[in-house]
Amino acid sequence: MASTLAAFVEQERPRLLADLSEWLAIPSISAQPEHAADCRRAAAWIATRLQRLGFSVDTLETGGPPILWGVGPPVPGAPTVLCYGHYDVQPPDPVGEWVSPPFQPTVRDGNLYARGTADDKGQVYTVVAALEGLKATRGSFPVNLRFLIEGEEETGSKGLTELLTREPERTRAAAVLVTDTNIVAPDQPSVDAALRGIIHAEIHVRTLKADLHSGLYGGAAPNAIETLWHLLEKLKGDDGRVRIPGFYQRVKRPAAAELRAWRSLPVTDKAFREEAGAKALVGERKYGVLERVWSRPTFEVHGIVGGYTGAGSKTVIPAEATAKISLRLVPDQRGRDVAARLVRAVKRAAPKHADVKVTVFSTVDPAQTSLDSRAYRVLDRAFREVWGSGIAPIRTGGSIPIVPLLQQRSDAVLVCGVGLPDDRLHAPNEKLTLDQIWKGIVLFGRFFELMAQDK
Ligand code: BES
Ligand code: MN
Ligand code: MN
Repeated sequence: MASTLAAFVEQERPRLLADLSEWLAIPSISAQPEHAADCRRAAAWIATRLQRLGFSVDTLETGGPPILWGVGPPVPGAPTVLCYGHYDVQPPDPVGEWVSPPFQPTVRDGNLYARGTADDKGQVYTVVAALEGLKATRGSFPVNLRFLIEGEEETGSKGLTELLTREPERTRAAAVLVTDTNIVAPDQPSVDAALRGIIHAEIHVRTLKADLHSGLYGGAAPNAIETLWHLLEKLKGDDGRVRIPGFYQRVKRPAAAELRAWRSLPVTDKAFREEAGAKALVGERKYGVLERVWSRPTFEVHGIVGGYTGAGSKTVIPAEATAKISLRLVPDQRGRDVAARLVRAVKRAAPKHADVKVTVFSTVDPAQTSLDSRAYRVLDRAFREVWGSGIAPIRTGGSIPIVPLLQQRSDAVLVCGVGLPDDRLHAPNEKLTLDQIWKGIVLFGRFFELMAQDK
């Protein structure tokens, strides 16, 4: 019963908070090789928590941060639920912008602040604490449990993709619970019916053998940064349109009913703009804001390196410039196809005075999950009990690299979570709201119980 679990949470709050804070204090940044040992420590930390609950846990080595595979005690006759999450986090930069240090978990105004609270340790912990609650209140688990907790999500899930391609039987389950996202508003539960895919790439431009004096050569010698910006303009217009030929070919517009449902969500353009901290919103104006971020593909520049950026001035014509970019993809675009189109478009747009190179680092396909499963209906019931309202099917603009594979294997993948839209993932002052954690523990506990009961 929800009230039994709620009583457990009520009583255990301080201990649970201190425990989660211990995990959050480990800087498990998968992108930075100097944090490899921290990734291992973070993996070992959560492995111990699962073991204490009676799980047998394998630490699977794939070359990078290890994958944890946990198998719960057998519950004969009960369905199996596979739970997915990640223990790696994004770099905390810019560290100076944090009100409290990123790896010193701190409670302020009912929120827990630290890197990895919402993305994704805090969410994984809610599921694990739910199991603790079930064990404490009923003595055993209602369902068979499998855990896949990886440490490479933020860098593309290469090891996990290889593992699950090689060993597909690991994903066999009545429900796959992916807790790595947020609900659309505090009192409106939601599940992500689709995620965008992503292509990470870099465009490098060289126009000269070496930098030159801008007085002696300026006006005739080609500037690499100028060449790069003209090139980028040929790839995306200021109307938000991506100019890569064929880019929109396979973009599928959501059904009218889906778009209509989004319009009744408690999200306004104004609230979205204010939450983003922007003076005005940009992009493809003929589409609504949610449609733009949930179901339209994008082209984004993340960083430009080149020339002189130190103190004072330096009159130089830069010989080299690089742009880090990504493209978000939507159903039915394919990562490999769009990556090839990007490379062709850059080659075509490159002027003859420059050597231009595109490096594609990784591609993740977009994903769409089925909403027609018993698992979905069970989660809906759990939300109704704990939140007082049922699930709004929404989408997300974010990507989770393993979901396309999971969704191919199962019609019962639930991409959900108890984060909120203003959790500032990947940014300074990331937080998870304490109330969401406490309710989340009860929610997932009830989900497991109802999975066992509701036939
Ligand atoms: N958990 C996020 C994705 C997410 C956030 C989905 C909020 C839904 C709602 C995930 O950890 C993430 O950040 N993914 C990366 C992709 C990865 C390949 C770097 C992303 O979306 O940028
Ligand atoms: Mn995540
Ligand atoms: Mn992330």
